[in-house]
Amino acid sequence: MSSPAFFPQDIIIRKRDGGALTKDEIEFFARGVVNGQFADYQATALLMAIFWRGMTPQETAWLTDAMMRSGDVIDLRDLPGAKVDKHSTGGVGDKVSLILAPLAAACGLKVPMMSGRGLGHTGGTLDKLEAIPGFRVMLDVPEFRAILQKVGLAMIGQTPQVVPADRKLYSLRDVTGTVECIPLICASIMSKKLAEGIDSLVLDVKFGKGAFMKKKEDALTLARAMVAVGKAGGKPVWAQLTAMNQPLGRAAGHTTEVIESIECLKGRGPADLMEVTLALTGHMLVLGGVAPDMAAAKKQMAAAIANGSALQKFREMCVAQGGDPRVVDDYSILPTAKKLLEVKAPVGASGFVSEVDALKCGHAIMALGGGRAAVTDKVDHAVGLADLIKIGEPVAPGTRLCTLHINDDARGTRAEALIREAVKFTPTQPPLEPLIQDLIT
Ligand code: URA
Repeated sequence: MSSPAFFPQDIIIRKRDGGALTKDEIEFFARGVVNGQFADYQATALLMAIFWRGMTPQETAWLTDAMMRSGDVIDLRDLPGAKVDKHSTGGVGDKVSLILAPLAAACGLKVPMMSGRGLGHTGGTLDKLEAIPGFRVMLDVPEFRAILQKVGLAMIGQTPQVVPADRKLYSLRDVTGTVECIPLICASIMSKKLAEGIDSLVLDVKFGKGAFMKKKEDALTLARAMVAVGKAGGKPVWAQLTAMNQPLGRAAGHTTEVIESIECLKGRGPADLMEVTLALTGHMLVLGGVAPDMAAAKKQMAAAIANGSALQKFREMCVAQGGDPRVVDDYSILPTAKKLLEVKAPVGASGFVSEVDALKCGHAIMALGGGRAAVTDKVDHAVGLADLIKIGEPVAPGTRLCTLHINDDARGTRAEALIREAVKFTPTQPPLEPLIQDLIT
C-alpha cells in the first residue's frame, strides 16, 4: 500500500480541537475506512470527535459526496422518465413505501428504491416485502435497472458495492454511541440515496416517541441539512416533517402491514396513513414534473387508486421480483400467526384515547418476535399488531385496543402488557396534533 497523503491522527486531532476538515482530508477518511488506511479505532475516534464538534454544512456535503463515491454510483440517465425516490427516517407502522412506490409509478414516475431492514423498534421495508412468498429484494444492479425500466419501480436492498463507506461507518457508529449525530446521519442517508441514480428525492423526517429523532427541532435541523446536501449535489430534495407519536395506520409488523398497504391501494386505507402517503407521493409527482402542482397530483393519485392501476403496479412488481402476485387478492398466502389475541379496554375505561405510545407498540412487536435486536436476527413475519385504536377514538370497557397476531402465548402476554401501557385514556376529547408539520423545499 502506498503511504497516505495524510495521517489519520492529524485529522482526528484537528476535529477534536474544533477545527474544520478539508475536502481532501474528508475524502481520505471515506476512502480510508474502506481500504484500511483508516483503522477502525481511528475511524471511531474521528466519529466521536465529529459527534462532539459537529461539521459545517460544507464538510457535511463533502462527506456525503466522498461516501457516495466510495463505491458504485448507479447511472440511470439512459432510462426515460424522471427517477424520484422517497426516504423515511423510520417509525412504527410506517409502510408508506409499499403504497407510494406503485402509486408514483402508476402516475408516470420511475421509482428506484433501495431500502433497509428493520432494527430495534422500527420496521424495515425489505423485511415487509419478504413477507410476500418468493419476493426477492437482493437483486444486482442490471436486474434492478431492467425491472425499473419495465415496471416503473423496483424495491431492493443496498448492494454491497453501493456506499461501502457507510456500511463500515454505520457498523462502527452503532457500537460506539455515535449514531445520534446530525452531520453523520445526513451523510449516511444522503450518500446512499444519491448513489441510486435519482433525479430528485422526497424525505419524510419523523419526530416523536416512535422516531429516531424525539424532538421536532432536531428533525428540522436534520431535514434542513439533507435538503442542503441535495442542493450541493445538484439534486432537488424536499423534506416533510411528520409526527410519529402513535403508529402510522392501524397495523404494525410484516404480514399485517403488507395487508394494510394493499388495502390502501384498493382505496380502503386508514386516514392518517393515506394523508402521509398522498402528501409524499404528491411531492414526488411535482418534483418529477409529472404534475404541475399538488392539486393536480392529488387528482392523478385518486384516479390511479380508483382505476386499479396503482394496485396493478404492485402486482407487476411482485411478478418481476419473484413474489406471488396472488397476495393482492388472497391474504391467506402471507405468513399467518397461530392465534389472534384481542386486547380490550379494562373495566373502568371511559372517554377517549389520549395516547398510543409508538415506542411501546414497537417494543410489543419485538416481544412477539417481529423485530430485530441485532442485524443478524431473523424476524417472524407472521406476528404483529392490527386493528390498533387511534388517539381521539372513544373507549368504554371492552373496546378493542388492538388485535395481536401471535405465535407464542408467553410472548403474547408480554406484548399485551406493553399495549396496555401504550394506550392511555382521557375523559374529554383530546386535541389532535397535526400529522404533517412542515415542508422544507
Ligand atoms: N439511517 C441511516 O441510513 N443512517 C443513519 O445514520 C441513521 C439512520
